[in-house]
This record gives sequence, structure tokens and C-alpha cells, in this order.
Amino acid sequence: ISTATLILVIAYLLGSIPTGYLAGRYLKGIDIREHGSGSTGATNVLRTLGKTPAIVVLGIDLLKGSLAVALVKWLYLLEINPLPQSWQAWLIIGSGLAALIGHSRSIFLGFGGGKSVATGLGVLLVINPLVAAGTLGSFLVMLGISRIVSLSSITGAIAVNLLMWGLTQPLPYLLFAALAGVYVIIRHRTNIKRLIEGTEPKIGQKLSTEE
Ligand code: G3P
Repeated sequence: ISTATLILVIAYLLGSIPTGYLAGRYLKGIDIREHGSGSTGATNVLRTLGKTPAIVVLGIDLLKGSLAVALVKWLYLLEINPLPQSWQAWLIIGSGLAALIGHSRSIFLGFGGGKSVATGLGVLLVINPLVAAGTLGSFLVMLGISRIVSLSSITGAIAVNLLMWGLTQPLPYLLFAALAGVYVIIRHRTNIKRLIEGTEPKIGQKLSTEE
């Protein structure tokens, strides 16, 4: 139990690394939470700080998710791990979810942060690259059509479930997609409100009324 708890805590702390916040602080001397959508994710970094910082933040946030899950895999590969083999998939989804929660409820940001899309994709890449590619594909298609990142993220959160079921993945992974999908959608509730009102900005655009 203590090894499992330690894994989850490490995954949460990894997710908590406030990449977007640090970018705002050190590149522009601002608190990104007071700009644009108030999110610390790559979309708001793009809106507030520009393209290069957004790509770097996106990459690091993605890696946080991948690393959290890869750590579990490595632990099993090393064979010094006292945990039963049957726990592996559950620990993988546990640390994946812990990283997602860390990203959007960071211990370093008073339990605020981003919307867990990039970190979620990072987790998926290690769980199942094919599902990750399909999810990213659905995101990109919606982004191409709508130019709205939040709508594309929500599309991805739904698509990941269809892909997991379609590719008959094991129960823990189906559960991960369901929980992460619902979590990401809930994190987008202010975006959903703006989408309904027709005021959600397109990619790179400023918000008409800053939150
Ligand atoms: O990944 C987050 C994106 O879907 C929305 O970000 O800043 O427009 O709320 P933002």
C-alpha cells in the first residue's frame, strides 16, 4: 500500500508542476491566471505569451502525464517492485488520473491550474499510442473546422471513450477514459457556457470579456 500511495503522490506532484504559470512569471512577469481564460494551460499561454512559450508548455505538460504513467511501467520492469502484477493497469490509471488532477488542481497554485488536456494526451500516449493518435486526430479535425480549442478538447474527451471501446481495451483503461473524459469536460464548464453564448474565442484570439 505504501509503495502505491507513493506512486500516486509522485504522479500528482509531477502533474502539479505549474509550467504555464512559470512561463508567465519568468517570460513576462505576469500571473497568467489573471489573463485570458485564467487557465495555466498551453491554449492560454498561446493567447497571453505567444507561440513558442505555448509549444514549450504544451510539450512539458504532455510529458508530465507520460512520465507519471511511465514511472509505473518502469517500476514493474525493474522487478524490485513489491506490488502484485495484477495491480499494474490500475496503478497506471491511478497515476494518470493523479497527474491530471495535479495539473488542474496544482498544490503549487492554490489548487488551481489548467484543464488537463495536454497532460491527458501524455498519459494516453503511454497507455495506448493508437488511442492517443485517434484522440489527437479528433481534436485536430474539430480544431480545423471550428478553430476553437475548447470545443476540440471536449471532442477529444468524448472520442477517447469511443476509441477505447472500439479497440476493446481492458477495463481499467475504459474507466480511465470515462473518468478523464468527464473530468476534462467539467474543467471546461466556463468554456461550455461561452460556447453556448457564442462568445468563446477562436485559437489565439483574446477573450472579449476577460475573466
Ligand atoms: O486545453 C484547454 C483548452 O481546451 C481551453 O483553454 O484557455 O481557452 O480555456 P482555454
